[in-house]
Amino acid sequence: MARMENAHKVRKAVIPAAGLGTRFLPATKAIPKEMLPIVDVPTLQLVVDEAVRAGITDVVVINGRNKVAIEDHFDHAYELEHTLRERGNTDLLAQVVKVSTMVRMLSVRQKQPLGLGHAVLCAREAVGDESFAVLLGDDLIDNDRDPGIAQLIRVHEELGAGAIAIMEVPAGKEHLYGIVTGDLDPQGRMRIRDMIEKPKPGTAPSRWAVVGRYVLPPSTWRHLENTKPGAGGEIQLTDALRELVKSPEGLYGVVLQGTRHDAGDKLGYLRANLAYAMKRPELRDAVVELCREMVAGAGAGKA
Ligand code: UTP
Repeated sequence: MARMENAHKVRKAVIPAAGLGTRFLPATKAIPKEMLPIVDVPTLQLVVDEAVRAGITDVVVINGRNKVAIEDHFDHAYELEHTLRERGNTDLLAQVVKVSTMVRMLSVRQKQPLGLGHAVLCAREAVGDESFAVLLGDDLIDNDRDPGIAQLIRVHEELGAGAIAIMEVPAGKEHLYGIVTGDLDPQGRMRIRDMIEKPKPGTAPSRWAVVGRYVLPPSTWRHLENTKPGAGGEIQLTDALRELVKSPEGLYGVVLQGTRHDAGDKLGYLRANLAYAMKRPELRDAVVELCREMVAGAGAGKA
């Protein structure tokens, strides 16, 4: 029994951050979109924090052409620390030092953006033969008490099966997501029967969409290696997940508790900034006032 539990223990997380981020050009010309700030914290740092709060000890970041910004952010910045110390700015110093010590981080280069499946496969050697978490570096699940990925880890450790985050999307938006079908139990879990990547408008079999959190068994590596590149030479993670659906253990969709923000999309990014700003006591009232002003201005045709 102890051995079983150990086999499904999740210590490592893969965070893909090597996409081109074309929706945020020109901002993403020289920095990855995962480094764009939500108020004053890079999206990626919020994602790493979620993983750390869930007990993850090792993070493998999949980097693309602008990897230096990410590596530097999670490393010591001796000159900056020295200056902040000299100026007696202890609060900021503590925040800066905390980022460089929050987790053991390994950076792996994806030489070409050949899709999410390919990005995850780049972490194979670093993760090895154990279950692992995947957190998309531009997707936020806001839950201060129970981190989104911890909710999936619990399902995986209990059932020994892969667990992926799902949420119900509005009718008409299904074509933007991977869509799953299956019966939801009262605990918000679904043994997935089938999944389809970005169905054509009007053809989706359900409104249950896959969002950016996964906990996967080591057999995923084999499935990813056998996945043939699809359109644009990309290797889709969905194809490998479909193999897990067919396995004896199956694959479970889990409806996460928390607010999800798609920070890789312009409107989602703006919404995330407002939502996180409103969580800060020193900003909350001013942000509400600002929103009122903007809405009134838009109504009067000014903004
Ligand atoms: P997205 O499709 O949202 O990222 O991938 P993108 O391709 O950078 O976005 P746009 O459409 O051009 O604006 C989801 C996540 O997977 C990573 C991305 O960095 C993002 O965090 N990804 C995607 C990779 O690491 N490698 C890839 O080849 C593709």
